[in-house]
Amino acid sequence: MLTLNSIDQFKKRPALVAILMDTQKTLIPTKPYEQMPQLLAQFPEFTGAMDDQLLWHGPETGEQAPRILMLGVGAIADLDAEKCRRVAATAAKKAIALGLDQMAFLVPPVKTLPIDARTVIGALAEGALLGNHRFSRYQKDEKKPLKKISLWTTAQTAKRFKAHVRSVETVCQGTLMAREWVSIPANDKRPEAFAKELVTQAKAVGLGAFSRSESWLKKSKMGGILAVNQGSNEKPQLVVMHHKPKKSGKKIVLVGKGVTFDTGGYNLKPTGSIESMKIDMGGAAAVAATLITAAKAKVPHEIIGIIPIVENMVSATAIRPGDIITMFNGKRVEVNNTDAEGRLILADALAWGIKTYQPDMVIDLATLTGACLVALGSDIAGLFANDETLSQNLVAAATTTHERCWPMPLPDDYKALLKSKIADLSNIGKNRWGGAITAALFLSEFVDAPQWAHIDIAGPAYTATDNPYCNSGGTGFGVRLLMQFMENLA
Ligand code: BES
Ligand code: MN
Ligand code: ZN
Repeated sequence: MLTLNSIDQFKKRPALVAILMDTQKTLIPTKPYEQMPQLLAQFPEFTGAMDDQLLWHGPETGEQAPRILMLGVGAIADLDAEKCRRVAATAAKKAIALGLDQMAFLVPPVKTLPIDARTVIGALAEGALLGNHRFSRYQKDEKKPLKKISLWTTAQTAKRFKAHVRSVETVCQGTLMAREWVSIPANDKRPEAFAKELVTQAKAVGLGAFSRSESWLKKSKMGGILAVNQGSNEKPQLVVMHHKPKKSGKKIVLVGKGVTFDTGGYNLKPTGSIESMKIDMGGAAAVAATLITAAKAKVPHEIIGIIPIVENMVSATAIRPGDIITMFNGKRVEVNNTDAEGRLILADALAWGIKTYQPDMVIDLATLTGACLVALGSDIAGLFANDETLSQNLVAAATTTHERCWPMPLPDDYKALLKSKIADLSNIGKNRWGGAITAALFLSEFVDAPQWAHIDIAGPAYTATDNPYCNSGGTGFGVRLLMQFMENLA
């Protein structure tokens, strides 16, 4: 392994270095960080500002020749994990764009950095792995992801963080799995097929997993799940995944909204809103991928993933605005808007999950409201919780992984907005204000648990534009967050 010495010399123009190359090549320059001052002296136009790049050939030339890429990171004192992720991803993407298939990223001498070695190395690995993903299953893609990514550091550091890098890789694989599911079009993940795929993938890693279909849901009186799916010619599904280590700490129920397509139903979504609604199973994808990752990573907690899967369609059998349905917990709901469907399936899944498994804590993830996007924009999730410690622990994990969650209120008096004149509850608020809050309050009517959190991921489940370490499409938001949250649990 390469020995790296001091980064001091180039503090003025801070940069990280990646070698982009073909797998045939093995050139790794010795001591690049030591040689940096001489190199930089030759390239005065490189300032070292964040996103500044400098690319040149090593001793070899030609299409396949290794390139040396220097990436600006801004002031060293401000270097953080997110910048490391972005820089490593940018390098991976550059290599792909050049038609190369390998990248060696040279970890800077960590002693001189403001963040610890574990964080730097973990973030570089994460950025490189996540930036190396392209959703290409529907295209002849000329740009292939890198075959090999390596981080180069001292032998001692490499040994120390080998296990950490491996676990980062496992979590990234889970994130990419969730991304793929979200990006797959709705015609290729209709409820029965999607449920089958989840169960198959779960069993492949040794999880207990099954899917319940219509007759079971009817017997169990899951009126919410049945109602939302009744316009579809497919059967609704309830997927359950169970991770049960021999000796486990906490018992955690995770619930994910799995609407494989949300037309809005008879309250049909207009053009401009309907096109992206294949992503309405982002919560399901995150929960399923987290369970699969947890099994691979041997997380020492018992985790039960509960994933209701439906399609919100329009047809002669679809639910009508004004219909009254009876939910799993016996409450009657007047469905005043068929587009407020997510809360109906989650309500049943939450109530059933809590009753069946009696967990220590419950967390649901759902692309639940456009109102949450209005409140927090596309990149920040809304976090609602009935317990301050759980909320703080989720925010802490979210800060670490940069899957930002912002605490939102659950005001008791707003429950008046959900009153129905003729049923126990209405599924929408009396006015359009505070839509993310009224949705969360609706869920709270079905949650009898001391520690519950609801994360509205309507914005961050999906990105319309390419970001440094996530191309347009599903983001896999939630997998790294939940894994980090569970890692932090005592
Ligand atoms: N799936 C949508 C929420 C959504 C909107 C997710 C945009 C991702 C991007 C949800 O089912 C929905 O339609 N919510 C309604 C609720 C309203 C009818 C009370 C909404 O937000 O408009
Ligand atoms: Mn909807
Ligand atoms: Zn929806």
